[in-house]
Formats: sequence, C-alpha cells, structure tokens
Amino acid sequence: MSQKLENKVAVITGGNSGIGFATAKLFANEGAKVTITGRNATTIDTAVAEIGHNAIGVISDVADVNSFEPLYEQVKNTFGKIDILIVNAGILIVSPLENFTEDMFDQISNINYKGVFFTVQKALPYLNDGASIVVTSSTVANKGMAGMAAYISSKAAERALVRAFAAELVGRNIRVNTLSPGSTATPVLAKAGFTPEQIDEMETFLKSITPMKRNGTVEEMAKGFLFLASDDSSYMTGGDLLLDGGFSNL
Ligand SMILES: NC(=O)c1ccc[n+]([C@@H]2O[C@H](COP(=O)([O-])OP(=O)(O)OC[C@H]3O[C@@H](n4cnc5c(N)ncnc54)[C@H](OP(=O)(O)O)[C@@H]3O)[C@@H](O)[C@H]2O)c1
Repeated sequence: MSQKLENKVAVITGGNSGIGFATAKLFANEGAKVTITGRNATTIDTAVAEIGHNAIGVISDVADVNSFEPLYEQVKNTFGKIDILIVNAGILIVSPLENFTEDMFDQISNINYKGVFFTVQKALPYLNDGASIVVTSSTVANKGMAGMAAYISSKAAERALVRAFAAELVGRNIRVNTLSPGSTATPVLAKAGFTPEQIDEMETFLKSITPMKRNGTVEEMAKGFLFLASDDSSYMTGGDLLLDGGFSNL
C-alpha cells in the first residue's frame, strides 16, 4: 500500500459520516494521523473504531466559534501541528422558497458559510507552513435548483472563500482548494428529513440528469481529497476539483 500521507497530521470536520468518513479511512491507510470531528458522539466513536489506527475523534460544532480552539489544542497535544485540514462538515436543507424560514437559513449559513470561515481562520496558528486546506463545496454551486437557494449559495460562498484564503495564505505556501462532489450516496438526504421513498425518487432523478447516469461514491470523493491533500497537487491552489460525472460541464 502507498503511504502518500506518511506522518502527516490531518483534521477532517464532519469525519464521522459519508464523504468525510471515507476520506478519514483512506488518509489513515495512507499513513496520516487523523482527527475526525462531528456533533454526534456515537457515530464519532463508531467511526474511530472502524478506522482502527492513528485516529481520534472530537465532538466539535463548526457553528460555534468557541469550539475551534479546544479542538485544535487537542490535535496539537495528541499529534502536533496540522498538515492537512479538510473542511467538510455541512448540512442540506431543501424547502420551497416561500416556506424557507429564518431558522433554516441561519442553520445553513452558520455551518456551511460562517463555519467554514472560522474553521480555517482559527486553524491558522496550528497549521504548518506548506499545509493543504480543502473545502467540500458542491457541483450545485454553479446551478440553479428549486428549493435549494440557501444551500447552493452557501456552496458558492465556499468557492469564493477558498479563492480569497488561497491568495492570503500563498506566502506561507499553504494551498487552499475546493473539491466539488456531484450527487453522492451518503446519509445527507436522510438527515435533511427525506423519507426512504423520497430519497429513492431524488436519487433516480439525480442519476437521470447526470451524464454518467450514476451517483459518485464516497470512495471516489476520498481519492480526490487524497490528491488535493498530498504533494500530487503541489502546483494547485485556489482551484476546484470537480467530481460530478459530467453534471456541470456536459
Ligand atoms: N452527498 C452529496 O451528494 C454531496 C454533494 C455535494 C457536496 N456535498 C457536501 O459534502 C459534505 C459532506 O456531506 P455528506 O454527503 O458526506 O453528508 P453526511 O454524511 O451527512 O456528512 C455531513 C457531516 O457534517 C457533519 N456536520 C454537520 N453539521 C455539523 C456541525 N455543525 N459541526 C460539526 N460537524 C457537522 C456531520 O456530523 P454530525 O452528524 O455528527 O453533526 C457529518 O459528519 C457536506 O459539506 C456536503 O454539503 C455532499
């Protein structure tokens, strides 16, 4: 097995589920020392046990600005300064525009927008020069889709943040990029309140509008994060890795 991340210290927000969890497993297998975060203690414990080696879990809410210092202190005390920061925690809320409440809007922006800003800002003293930061955006950042105005605009905001972060951190040789997944089977739709029947219907629809006629897998996304986290992408910053089966461009 290759060891592309040997002894690298990696933090993955939202690493207890879906895309983040698959990425944590791959990174640990590639030699990284991994810290995963999330809000759910049970899934954090299960995920750390499944990763099996070189991993710790920390309960940490990205919507709470005060949560970052304790998180990054714990990472520093356990593994040292950070080489790879995967800013992946995110939520989806879908509702027709006329029914979208202020609370829904605040949840999306506090996690997907403000949460991303402070995940990066508060990490700055804990990052090694030469680190790689990757933010999980989405292929829908460039599309119009009904019921998703708040989510789509939060994902577009992440792209904009990443370009600005990259400009600001290039002097420390810290690279900052987004990975934009297309539709990928994870618990995200169930957490957004859809029934199993609605999820089947949505996934069938999303496959039908994707040129490759299938969802992406969490393992395919993890391989993209490995590329962006490792030296394989050493000349890439401010950019976007689009893994969407042709959804955006074809
Ligand atoms: N699946 C897709 O089709 C798709 C497509 C494009 C982009 N994305 C993006 O991919 C990322 C991962 O989503 P996923 O599909 O893998 O869904 P997921 O399985 O629901 O994972 C979301 C993760 O974010 C964490 N999270 C949510 N709110 C948090 C908060 N306030 N503080 C800390 N952690 C929080 C969750 O942990 P807890 O449950 O413990 O809070 C969970 O680990 C998201 O940013 C999403 O927008 C997904």
